[in-house]
Amino acid sequence: MTEFVKEAGIKGEVAIITGSASGIGKAIAMRYAKGGAKVVIADFNLEAATAVAEEIKATGAEAMAIRMDVSSEEEVNAGVEAVVKAYGSVEILVANAGLQIVHPVEEFPLEDWDKVIDVNLKGAFLTARACIKHMYPAKRGSLIFTGSFHSKAASPLKTAYIAAKHGVLGLGRAIAKEAVAHGVRTNVICPGLVMTPLIVKQIPEQAKELGISEEDVKAHVLHMEDTHGLVSTPEDIAEVAYFFAAMPTMCLTGQSLDVNCGLLYG
Ligand SMILES: NC(=O)c1ccc[n+]([C@@H]2O[C@H](COP(=O)([O-])OP(=O)(O)OC[C@H]3O[C@@H](n4cnc5c(N)ncnc54)[C@H](O)[C@@H]3O)[C@@H](O)[C@H]2O)c1
Repeated sequence: MTEFVKEAGIKGEVAIITGSASGIGKAIAMRYAKGGAKVVIADFNLEAATAVAEEIKATGAEAMAIRMDVSSEEEVNAGVEAVVKAYGSVEILVANAGLQIVHPVEEFPLEDWDKVIDVNLKGAFLTARACIKHMYPAKRGSLIFTGSFHSKAASPLKTAYIAAKHGVLGLGRAIAKEAVAHGVRTNVICPGLVMTPLIVKQIPEQAKELGISEEDVKAHVLHMEDTHGLVSTPEDIAEVAYFFAAMPTMCLTGQSLDVNCGLLYG
């Protein structure tokens, strides 16, 4: 094994998880808390973030909630500074906040395009940059990006999201090239279908746009026919996020891992 740069596991480490008031981010926060980390629920929705932090604190783990719009440079920088002031460091960032808006490309409003790129891609850059400033001097850290099946494949109606998620994969790979010299690892998780509010909302929207039933959207557009109906849970993704964060050596960096119940890319 290559040289240990930290203890295996994440006990005592400070983890900022963006978009953790719901879905995949919340599951990652719960998993990290179980692993002994101090978790920061950083979300646009402060009320929901506070409820998740309270839920975690009720288990005896340490948690705090902060309002952070990941597309705002000011809010991201202020949020990361507040965490470092409260906990003294930041060892893990999961850049997970995301949203989806579907339209046919020829009708895609620029405002919606900008929103999807700003939250999914610019937000990942801004949060990574703010955390790196604290990780490099400490010569340790783990950056984890929530990419997607759509970091490597395409579907109709999702041009902005797919462009953003391909960008997130490129961002993670590019940062890894620089950050490895500073003791910071960078990896990208690419989930397939996970039934969270982000997905549930778009099923009727896609059915309407494509003129097909919601069942057909699930089977053919969300590819459930290819996975024999199997769908990953937020907890599946959280286990992978734990694995990436817990790795004690520098060998696992610059990678992406598909977590999609065997879905193949067409
Ligand atoms: N659900 C899936 O099938 C799936 C598949 C692949 C990738 N993903 C990705 O997983 C991540 C989490 O998605 P989810 O499915 O858990 O969705 P979700 O809607 O359950 O959670 C998204 C969270 O992000 C927060 N958020 C939205 N805009 C924000 C902003 N500007 N700043 C900070 N927080 C913001 C929301 O408040 C919410 O808490 C996203 O990046 C998404 O693209 C999801």
